[in-house]
Amino acid sequence: MKAKSSWLVLLILVGAMACEQKKQTQEDSDVREDKGLKTYYQDYFPMGVAVSPYAIKGEQAELIKKNFNSMTPENVMKSGPIHPKENEYNWKDADAIAEFAKANGMRLRGHALVWHNQAPDWLYVDENGEEVSKEVLLARLKSHITEVVTRYKDVIYAWDVVNEAISDDPDEFYRDSKLYQICGEEFIARAFEYAREADPDVQLFYNDYEVINPVKREKIYKMVRGLQDAGVPIDGVGIQGHWSVFEPSEETLRATIDRFTGLGLEVQVTELDVSIYKKEHTRREKLPTDDDTFTDELKKKQIEQYDMIFKVFRENKEKLSSVTFWNVSDQYSWLDHFPVPDRKDYPLLFGEDNQPKEVYWTVVDF
Ligand code: G3I
Repeated sequence: MKAKSSWLVLLILVGAMACEQKKQTQEDSDVREDKGLKTYYQDYFPMGVAVSPYAIKGEQAELIKKNFNSMTPENVMKSGPIHPKENEYNWKDADAIAEFAKANGMRLRGHALVWHNQAPDWLYVDENGEEVSKEVLLARLKSHITEVVTRYKDVIYAWDVVNEAISDDPDEFYRDSKLYQICGEEFIARAFEYAREADPDVQLFYNDYEVINPVKREKIYKMVRGLQDAGVPIDGVGIQGHWSVFEPSEETLRATIDRFTGLGLEVQVTELDVSIYKKEHTRREKLPTDDDTFTDELKKKQIEQYDMIFKVFRENKEKLSSVTFWNVSDQYSWLDHFPVPDRKDYPLLFGEDNQPKEVYWTVVDF
């Protein structure tokens, strides 16, 4: 009799434990259910990501499809990679990204028609190696813009037409690039006109970094206003958003967004990442003091920074028409090589294992 009741108690206990365990597992999976970034933000703005041909294959492809509804080619549509010789275009990689966007119903931003960086050498010189005239350079830009914009007319909804034409130096207005040296500021207006001619429906953006810096911000504002006043077909401003756990402040971020929405243009965040390091915009060597440990303190700072940034973005959902991350996950980002070569950075919402980081949950939990 005694043995029987002991068995009964044991059975009840085991049953209760099993029930509790089942409940716990259910609760855990409820907590962990992940709808994907784009779904949490479906009432706010499209969520974009900069991709390479590598990223749209394999493990990262699934992550991209689940979390993003917009893409930007990180490098392959820039003039150097896509137009390496005057009479030679390299469409393969750009086509692959365009096809991926179409196949998965994603928006595609084009990047970038005119940029001083990653431009091919042939652009600036004639067959004797002499620098070309302004007329020749403008004609080459026109031909390049017309070819590329026309090819992706069916899939690209917005182009970064001119990228980073404003100087970082507070005492200089335009960046002293080859483009500027040969054409003066005129290349900027002409580039927008050539793009508009090639596609009357695509949105045309000016795109730049360090827009949170008030001096550079005012220069960009002045240039864009000047273009509008001159009747140049510009539709939007891209705030790149290469930020860090130390900047910008909430006040600065709000001021930056407000300044450009005041122009009555589209405003997008085009290249978002939050580095764990103090921001430096110039390349330098790695020093013995460079420590790339992603400490708990830095993780906390990154969570707080992303939390603030997305709170401000959500509050400005009527003003921001898209937010794009620059790279997919911490498995690889351009910040692993810049400004310091071989210094690992952890700037994104997905980790080195392509899984959501703790900061991801902060961004989607609102
Ligand atoms: O493709 C070559 C490869 O053939 C070669 O072996 C290798 C050796 O260095 O270089 C490869 O090219 C690299 C390219 O990325 C593709 O991976 C270049 O060296 C490297 O400089 C280039 O960096 C890109 C950078 O623009 C160029 O300034 C980054 O990936 C890209 O993320 C970055 O993106 C820019 C935006 O377009 C504009 N805003 C700033 C942003 C960050 O710099």
